[in-house]
Amino acid sequence: MLFCWLYLYLVLQKFHRDLPPTPVFAYGLSRKTATIPGPTIEALHAIHTHITWKNYLPAKHILPWDPTIPTAIPHKKKGIPTVVHLHGGIDEPQSDGHSSSWFTAEFKESGPSWTKKEYHYHNLQHPGTLWYHDHAMGLTRVNILAGLLGAYIIRQPHVETPLRLPYGDEFDRPLVVFDRSFSTDGSIFMNSTGNNPLIHPQWQPEYFGDAIVVNGKAWPFMIVGKRKYRFRIINASNARFFRFYFSEDGLGFIHIGSDSAYHDKPVLINKLLLAPSEIADVVVDFSKLTSDSTILSNDASYPYPSGDPVNEANSKLMKFIIKPNHEVDKKKIPSELIKYPSPDPSSASVTRYIAMYEYTSSIDEPTFLYINGKPFEAPATETPKVGSMEIWNVINLTEDNHPLHIHLGLFVALDQTELVNIDEFKACMTKANDAIKCRLDKYARGKKIEVPAHEKGWKNVYKMMPGYVTKIVVRFSYIHTNESYPFDATAEPGYAYHCHVSNPLY
Ligand code: C2O
Repeated sequence: MLFCWLYLYLVLQKFHRDLPPTPVFAYGLSRKTATIPGPTIEALHAIHTHITWKNYLPAKHILPWDPTIPTAIPHKKKGIPTVVHLHGGIDEPQSDGHSSSWFTAEFKESGPSWTKKEYHYHNLQHPGTLWYHDHAMGLTRVNILAGLLGAYIIRQPHVETPLRLPYGDEFDRPLVVFDRSFSTDGSIFMNSTGNNPLIHPQWQPEYFGDAIVVNGKAWPFMIVGKRKYRFRIINASNARFFRFYFSEDGLGFIHIGSDSAYHDKPVLINKLLLAPSEIADVVVDFSKLTSDSTILSNDASYPYPSGDPVNEANSKLMKFIIKPNHEVDKKKIPSELIKYPSPDPSSASVTRYIAMYEYTSSIDEPTFLYINGKPFEAPATETPKVGSMEIWNVINLTEDNHPLHIHLGLFVALDQTELVNIDEFKACMTKANDAIKCRLDKYARGKKIEVPAHEKGWKNVYKMMPGYVTKIVVRFSYIHTNESYPFDATAEPGYAYHCHVSNPLY
């Protein structure tokens, strides 16, 4: 068992040599060592971790936030509410970082569903990469933009060592990637005027920044040997999708895991599309390179896919400089990785229809993402049973691709089908909000898109294509064993599922 405290501080971080230090919110073991991303937490399978997250944030936020949307606001209006969610973790609801379980400095005030100071992470799930980030109601977006995020790795040596993948701090690294804009004084720039300032003075649905930051540095470089490296790439952006590729032909990604789970076989790809909050576990073999450097690049438009094309600043992420060495890397990536049982959709106990649409009210309020016509504050609608399997048909009636994230459960995407005559269907849905009554079967008849090989495994985030219905099988149990949870998953405050672009936790 491991017990520790992690603190949240306001500190200065140097993102680029030409930029003055930036005030940020960061997690750390001490004020001196607090950084963005926060310390990478390494857990061993079955060894529980207990973390007390201690809020030492100042009284005032460093970024503009909007009190007119549903937001965690302390009664005395003092202090910054925060709560930490371990994204991808399979843990008790009291430690899941529910958005209304927030607390302010010294736990002086807390949200309605707050129950405990010390969070308990069981680490009983399969090995893989997770990340922790703020999840406070209405403030998730600004708290993460200010810097409250970090990587978390669960290792299971007797399962992973035989794979002989690159390991050790030098050859197995998280790459935490996000976009930010900076003012010339170094501070993080965020437009403080909302889309519709008369109603919501500061609210904007998405944030995009000009600079690309990897592991806390803008456009950094890394010196690497002519050998294989494992990178656990986490897209920690608010709304930016990345489609990664290397500037040098022939260098690709050996995709070994998606989100928190290994694939059964590695998949070789040249372009890697990663939505906000998605994780790609990849091996890159620099011995394949003939030149002495390569640039990790991005060509995903923003918003994705209907927005602006990338520009000079956000099309490049980082440079890898290859040091000449004579070390020969003979280890091969195994052709079989880890095989988890695949779900049998015919044994699903429930079929649900989940429609995402952006709703504009009659007074032309800014758009929020509504799920099944209900805002985030509405009472829980989905009450799956522990250990059960369910089919979810997720209908994306918006213009943008939305990364759907489910807490507690993992799922496998089955297929995506285009909706024909979508306006007609949408008109019915906005009134009746019932996919069966609105005859989804009549509209889900367009193109079918196959799930790409590297996304066929168990995931906790999936990209919901706009204008498509995506079918997923969700399992509310562990994927590597039939054991049930060692905690009461039905306890309050329960779990969330949501899109990981600023909505609905803003
Ligand atoms: Cu990455 Cu509900 O969270």
